[in-house]
Amino acid sequence: DKAGHKHFMAKEIAEQPGVIGQALSHYLTDEGEILLPGDGIDFSSIDRISMAACGTASYACMAAKYWFEQIARLPVEVDVASEFRYREPPIPARTLALFVSQSGETADTLAALRFCEGKAQSILSVVNVPESSIARESDLVLPIYAGVEVGVASTKAFTCQLTVLYLLVLKAAKDRGVLSEAALADHISALRGLPSVINTALEQNTAMRDAAYKLSTARDVLFLGRGHMFPLALEGALKLKEISYIHAEAYASGELKHGPIALVDEEVPVVVFAPRDVLFDKTVSNMQEVMARKGKVILVSDAEGIAEARDGVWATIEMPKIADALTPILYAIPAQLLAYHTAVAKGTDVDQPRNLAKSVTVE
Ligand code: M6R
Repeated sequence: DKAGHKHFMAKEIAEQPGVIGQALSHYLTDEGEILLPGDGIDFSSIDRISMAACGTASYACMAAKYWFEQIARLPVEVDVASEFRYREPPIPARTLALFVSQSGETADTLAALRFCEGKAQSILSVVNVPESSIARESDLVLPIYAGVEVGVASTKAFTCQLTVLYLLVLKAAKDRGVLSEAALADHISALRGLPSVINTALEQNTAMRDAAYKLSTARDVLFLGRGHMFPLALEGALKLKEISYIHAEAYASGELKHGPIALVDEEVPVVVFAPRDVLFDKTVSNMQEVMARKGKVILVSDAEGIAEARDGVWATIEMPKIADALTPILYAIPAQLLAYHTAVAKGTDVDQPRNLAKSVTVE
């Protein structure tokens, strides 16, 4: 049932404020304490985290790496699951192995998990399907409570994965004694505000549809982001590729001048994710390099960022302001809706894109 939406993907995008609220309520007490299922995990006995996942779930891992390292001061390695075990990575004792999967059945992620059995101190998974194989084989399972996701393009599962991972980061920071009570309370209150901020972002639908119309005639599109906006750029490019069939690539903004800028001309739209944070000026200077080569920039930022950098850009999409650390969850909305409206404009099969399956159970 599409609940009045044209596609499951549109419905699932719209559900995000609600399901993120659900996920939060499962893990947070009224007093703002983080509760993990069962005996939980004590991060004071963990020295490093090794994460593996595929596709969108791997971008959730990449965003979480920035959080674990900056907020909890824990070193993290992220692999695409299909590469993990063949690399035969050493797994030192005191490693937490962490797997993220919407379906819980992805063959490569499951194989990466099995590689860690008997080596890692604990195996934890973040899944949407608690009865899945990945969940069954984990020491601790954190469900994301996104509800059934039908669209092949993952949307609400991604933002719920990020939400649960963020809570896990806060728990890790607390266990490791690197976050004061006051700072923790600030993080939690920002998290509780997330559903309403995401609602505000969804209200920018028309701006995202207009920008998507412009994208729909492109042959190639680039996505740029720095810091924890880099995984979001990857997610935006993947969404666009899978449902609109437009060739899209994502780069860390700073990498542009090391090669990809050679691709830029007046035919190439470049989507730039740049909230007005500490990295904003750097990203804007990369964006200006794009415009100097006549690239057409779609700038996704907040009001302050757009006011500062709008000169010469092709289109803007304004996001509400949110705590810097939470921008990866918020900027998922434009990543999803740009792809969605582009696909609708092109008339492709949004929910069942060609050549793709919802759950990839072969290597
Ligand atoms: O079920 P999983 O989260 O393990 O699936 C991983 C990927 O196959 C999945 O995220 C895929 O990339 C989506 N189609 C992206 O929209």
